[in-house]
Amino acid sequence: MGRAAKDKRDVYYRLAKEEGWRARSAFKLLQINEHFNIFEGVKRVVDLCAAPGSWSQVLSRKLRKGNAHNEHEVKIVAVDLQEMAPLEGVFQIQGDITKLATAQQIVQQFEGEKADLVVCDGAPDVTGFHDMDEYIQGQLLIAALNITTHVLKPHGNMVAKIFRGRDVALLTSKLELFFKRVVIAKPSSSRNSSIEAFAVCLDYCPPDDYVPHMNNPLLDGHWDFLETMPEANRRIVNFVVCGNLDGHPMDADRTYQLDPDYVYHDPGQPPINPAYKMAKLLKTENKLAKLTTSPTPASSTPPSGEPPSDVVP
Ligand SMILES: C[S@@+](CC[C@H](N)C(=O)[O-])C[C@H]1O[C@@H](n2cnc3c(N)ncnc32)[C@H](O)[C@@H]1O
Repeated sequence: MGRAAKDKRDVYYRLAKEEGWRARSAFKLLQINEHFNIFEGVKRVVDLCAAPGSWSQVLSRKLRKGNAHNEHEVKIVAVDLQEMAPLEGVFQIQGDITKLATAQQIVQQFEGEKADLVVCDGAPDVTGFHDMDEYIQGQLLIAALNITTHVLKPHGNMVAKIFRGRDVALLTSKLELFFKRVVIAKPSSSRNSSIEAFAVCLDYCPPDDYVPHMNNPLLDGHWDFLETMPEANRRIVNFVVCGNLDGHPMDADRTYQLDPDYVYHDPGQPPINPAYKMAKLLKTENKLAKLTTSPTPASSTPPSGEPPSDVVP
């Protein structure tokens, strides 16, 4: 698909480039905040699954910028499996949020102090096997909740991506054990065709006898509450649509015409280590075509440093 067609197709993709966000996801967090006012009074925040970093940018711009007094008081810790280009005022950790070591690193960053807000936009590389994708996304949500129980202050808030799948009611019930109010929100910048939504969890208030446990994120028998709440998986969860940026609701699934004199913008931060890096390099050296026309036999191993034979241009 050509550049013009892509820009015209998605208004948020285009806006992200115009406003210098690393990803169009920035608008999802902005719209959630517009509706729920989750940034108010926030000084310490954890951004889980943060790469390429547009949510961290939003947090940095909203919490640090324009407030010289606050700038040094604000702490933003961003975590992702992937390397992320540096961002001013954002401390970065590269790691897997489902791993104990990563969770411990995050907790250490707060040196005993608590965070006011935890956000998580975690999504696995989708396989196309929907049950599997939903299951892995659910595990990321539980990992985020586990980390949250260690770092979030009482009455703090959490926002986490959730797939509108079979387990949404079960996961919502689990979140409601820890937060007084849980709303499943769909920002208008999130495409309708996507099964993603966001669990906005307000007013952290864990059960009195809950002891955060790094090794066993809420999955031990004691917190397997299906026996005591058998209806948890059968309830209907309500969804709230949010997003009215500056009074202009824009639909991510609609096509908007560009002005004839529209000026294109390049991405503010190109990917630093994309999966297609090797293929791109081979293409510039004109070696990719040779690889794809004479593929390596399936039984043999490609020479070291070369991509597998199924790389397509
Ligand atoms: C939709 S992207 C996040 C976009 C980000 N919020 C932004 O605005 O730029 C999902 C991210 O989840 C990360 N991720 C997936 N599984 C993870 C895991 N187990 N631990 C840490 N990060 C993970 C991926 O590397 C990916 O960068």
